[in-house]
Amino acid sequence: MQRVEQEINRMIQEVDYDEVTNLFNKLSGGKRLRAKLILKIASTNPKAPLLAAIVELIHAASLLHDDVIDDAMTRRGVASVNATDGSKVAVMLGDILYSKAFTELVAFDKEVAQIISASVTALSKGEMLDVALAKTFNIDEKKYLDMLYLKTATLIEAAASAAATLVGKDAQKYALYGRNLGLSFQIIDDILDIVSDEATLGKPAMNDFVEGKATLPYIYLYELLDEDGRKKLESLHAKKATQEEMLWLKEQFEKYKTIEKSFEVAKKLSFEAQEALKDEPELVAILETMLQRSY
Ligand code: FPP
Ligand code: MG
Repeated sequence: MQRVEQEINRMIQEVDYDEVTNLFNKLSGGKRLRAKLILKIASTNPKAPLLAAIVELIHAASLLHDDVIDDAMTRRGVASVNATDGSKVAVMLGDILYSKAFTELVAFDKEVAQIISASVTALSKGEMLDVALAKTFNIDEKKYLDMLYLKTATLIEAAASAAATLVGKDAQKYALYGRNLGLSFQIIDDILDIVSDEATLGKPAMNDFVEGKATLPYIYLYELLDEDGRKKLESLHAKKATQEEMLWLKEQFEKYKTIEKSFEVAKKLSFEAQEALKDEPELVAILETMLQRSY
C-alpha cells in the first residue's frame, strides 16, 4: 500500500500547484478498498500500484463532486472541501484529480484503460439517477438496485476486472466478485446510515431519507406498512425528522425487521462473490470484513 500512496503523492506533486497539494493533503484517504483489491488481484504486475493510485484518485474526485451535489458538510469525519473552501473549489479539485488520473491511465493497455474509463461514465450516470430518484419517494427496489450498481459497484467491478486483465486472470469472474462486493458494500452503508451514530460514521446519521434517498430498509418498510403507516412514512420523506418521528421510524424498523431483511440481501450478494473466488482466501476475507464493518 505504501507504493500506492507514493504514486498518489507523485501525481499530486506533478499537478504542480500548491493549493491543490494543500487541499489534497487535508482529505482523509479512506479505506482504500479499491486499491487493496487491485494489489491483491494483480500483485505480480509492477504496474498494479499505479493502477490502484489512479482508481483511488478517480474515487476521491467522485466524492468531492458528490459532496457538492449532496450539500454534505462532512466526509470521513472531517469537514468536506465544499464546506471549508466552497463548492467551486471542490468541483475544480475533483476535475484536476480525475483528469490527472486519466492522463496516467493512457500508459496502460487499451483493454484496461477502457474498463476503467467506461466505469466512470457509469458512475456519473449512477449519480444522476440517484439525484433523480431522490426527487420523489422511490419504492421500486429494482430501480434502486440498478442505481446502486451504477453509482457504487461499477468502479469496484472495474477495479477488479482491470486488475485481473493486467495479470491475465479470468476478468469475468473477478468482475462478478467486484460487482457483488460493491453492491453489498453500499447496502451495508445504507443500513449503517440508520443504525449507527454520527461519531462512528463521520457524517450525520439517519440522513439518507432526509436527503430524499429511500434506501432498501425504507423500501421494504413501505411494502409492509398499512395504509396509515405508509402515509406517515411518505410525510417524512426528504424532511428533517423530529426526535419523535425518528423514534417512530426506529420502532417501525424493529417491528418489520427491514434492516435484517436488507442485511440478508447484502449477505446473499457477498456469498455469490465468495463462491466466484473460493480459492482466494484474501479476497474472501475482504468480503467478511466488509459485512462486519461498523463505519
Ligand atoms: C457517494 O454516494 C457517491 C458515489 C459513490 C459516486 C459519485 C459519482 C459522481 C459524483 C460522478 C462524478 C465522477 C467523477 C470521477 C468526477 P452517496 O452520496 O450515497 O454516499 P456518501 O454517503 O458517502 O456521500
Ligand atoms: Mg453523498
